[in-house]
Amino acid sequence: MSTGVQRTLWLDDRGRLLTRDQTRLPFEEAIVELGDAQACAHAIRTMQVRGAPLIGAVAAYGLAFALRDDASDAGLARARELLLATRPTAVNLRWALDRVAGRVRPLGPPARPGAALDEAAAICDADVACNRAIGEHGAALLRPLRRGDSPLQLLTHCNAGRIATVAWGTALAAVYLLAEAGVPVHVWVDETRPRNQGASLTAWELADRGIAHTVIADNAAGLLMRQGRVDAVIVGCDRVAANGDVANKVGTYQKALAAADNRLPFYVACPVSTIDAGTPDADAIEIEARDPRELTHVRGRGPHGDLVEVQLVPERSPAFNPAFDLTPARLVTALVTEHGAVPASAQGVALALSRASAGPATRGGGPGLSQGAR
Ligand code: MRU
Repeated sequence: MSTGVQRTLWLDDRGRLLTRDQTRLPFEEAIVELGDAQACAHAIRTMQVRGAPLIGAVAAYGLAFALRDDASDAGLARARELLLATRPTAVNLRWALDRVAGRVRPLGPPARPGAALDEAAAICDADVACNRAIGEHGAALLRPLRRGDSPLQLLTHCNAGRIATVAWGTALAAVYLLAEAGVPVHVWVDETRPRNQGASLTAWELADRGIAHTVIADNAAGLLMRQGRVDAVIVGCDRVAANGDVANKVGTYQKALAAADNRLPFYVACPVSTIDAGTPDADAIEIEARDPRELTHVRGRGPHGDLVEVQLVPERSPAFNPAFDLTPARLVTALVTEHGAVPASAQGVALALSRASAGPATRGGGPGLSQGAR
């Protein structure tokens, strides 16, 4: 079994950032080359790259690329604004930009581009280690939920896998580690309308790694939970508020409600970079409204193998497309961070932040694993 270590982003020998164009998956593995801040901003806005940690990593490189052209304070501020405006909900974007900006601001302009590139690379390296630690903590929580000889039955929403991060993924890191450890695991993959990140991306990466999975319509999840065919739900997240409320892909809230009604654990895999202590609760989180065309039309492979778009909704019917929703902390069993699982509450968030400021990520099974988690 191969691991999640293969990276989603890499640099070529001309210093350009390369990644798969996720708007073309699962049918085409096209590589997109990002050589300047505009290209990075475009890739984030159009979702050639997506997923909170990956957005942050690409934005960090975008800022570094911008400083090669203009390393002045004004150039730094302009590029930061350009990249920050691409997507509003995932807080990792702002976190990564602030990390690069904070590193270069004290330096003179000539030293800034190199230092920014180093910081972007450090963000990527840290993401890999962080996600592996999240996976270990998540796997330790999930493994005991397996019933008898049956495969562990997990359900996930959207794509919080390796291609949403630099490597491993957050929610799916636990799946990869369980599979590597020989634990039979099967994943119910919500299709995740309207952009179908589950059907297109999660299914693609699980198939790529040989992990048993089944794509379901979003609306089937509640039924499967009620029928006892799900042992736990694990999802990623785009922002965690100071009180433990969570923003994630639209549809997450309904899964959390169904999990609570069926007394199933609902875990949110959450790097500490996704915690926004400055946002008091979910209602203060900006929800990205995306082009209604994502809802009224659907893209897929046509009869001749090419990518085609077809219309679903009558011309005269308006559509509204909020990309994320808000799950109250009370529906979240635990936030699974790289520093261990913590309750989804103000105390849990404070605990995760204090562990993060105390030192590097803990390994799964370590003291941080279940302390404080419900
Ligand atoms: O709109 P997307 O595809 O960027 O949304 C992605 C999600 O909602 C993920 O669950 C989240 O970013 C976590 S990715 C590890």
